[in-house]
Amino acid sequence: MKIIGTGSAAPELRITNDDLSAFLDTSDEWIRTRTGIAERRILTDEALEDLAAEAAEKALEQAGLGAGQVDYIFCSNVINPYLTPALSCVIQGKIGAACPCIDLNGACAGFLYALEMAEAYLKSGKCQNILIVAAECPSRMVDWTDRATCVLFGDGAAAAVVSAGGEDASFLMHTSCDASVLHAYHASGNCPYTPQTASSPLFMNGQEVYKFAVSRSTEDLRTLCADRGMELSQVGHFLLHQANLRILEAVRTRLKQPKEKFPHNVELHGNTSSAGIAILLDELNRGGALQKGEYLAMSAFGAGLTSGACILKWEL
Ligand code: ACO
Repeated sequence: MKIIGTGSAAPELRITNDDLSAFLDTSDEWIRTRTGIAERRILTDEALEDLAAEAAEKALEQAGLGAGQVDYIFCSNVINPYLTPALSCVIQGKIGAACPCIDLNGACAGFLYALEMAEAYLKSGKCQNILIVAAECPSRMVDWTDRATCVLFGDGAAAAVVSAGGEDASFLMHTSCDASVLHAYHASGNCPYTPQTASSPLFMNGQEVYKFAVSRSTEDLRTLCADRGMELSQVGHFLLHQANLRILEAVRTRLKQPKEKFPHNVELHGNTSSAGIAILLDELNRGGALQKGEYLAMSAFGAGLTSGACILKWEL
């Protein structure tokens, strides 16, 4: 599998930590020290599907493909305005593709789950080109009076076009159910036979998520390298889920890797859930930071609890 194009798109509205402290009992100092986040982009009257389509079109343009050459669209998403149809179907219509589409919810690790599925479809010969889109608006899922969660997140979309050929990628996926740590509920609807429940905003046990993220990511990256017969030092860049700079630093120091191999943009985007790694990948790609032939190691973790890690050769 090889990545042949990437793209991303962000909402217009930029919200700094000081903007948040105007209505929340928080401060730039607290947020930066605990998370590294300085600002985030928040959806206003823009449609998430429009951001997703913009990211997809940029990725297709870089790949040199028309929408008609896409054999499947996978969209990684946690929350969007549609309960049905799938967001991928809406994106398909916007970009003028005609292929089958499916959404998946792997929480913050969803982009890597989509990549793993894509590799299986490509290797089986079922598809030649797959468009993966990660589009997320966690701002619509958090309680904006809860300073412990709302300061962490931002909205955004990114896409990657993956094609058959190239070197095989390696994946390591885990899911271990513990919904108590990180969850949000839909409202029940008004079925007369069902107990009536309201939707609930995102609940997060921050310290448990922190411990899970650091230990899982460190172990996954070590294991995946060992399974592939590689030293950690042979990895060109480590792209971690952009949740929190302290998590990235904790993983980096445990793996004894230099800072320049752990790029980050969480300071400007906040945690954009599954879009985070994909946005970072696009920014590195378009900024010329990735060398053709280098190995990228990616690792993400999220509600479920899910985690995913991937090593692939960058061939663009
Ligand atoms: N501003 C000011 N004070 C705050 C804020 C805020 N935004 N949020 C919480 N506090 C207060 C708390 O109320 C608490 O006050 P108290 O001591 O008077 O009770 C104090 O700060 C410490 O709170 P903790 O929750 O213990 O803070 P902690 O040092 O654990 O940092 C954080 C919280 C940043 C969430 C940390 O636990 C963390 O990084 N966890 C990882 C979670 C994560 O990254 N989640 C991302 C979403 S999930 C995902 O992507 C997988």
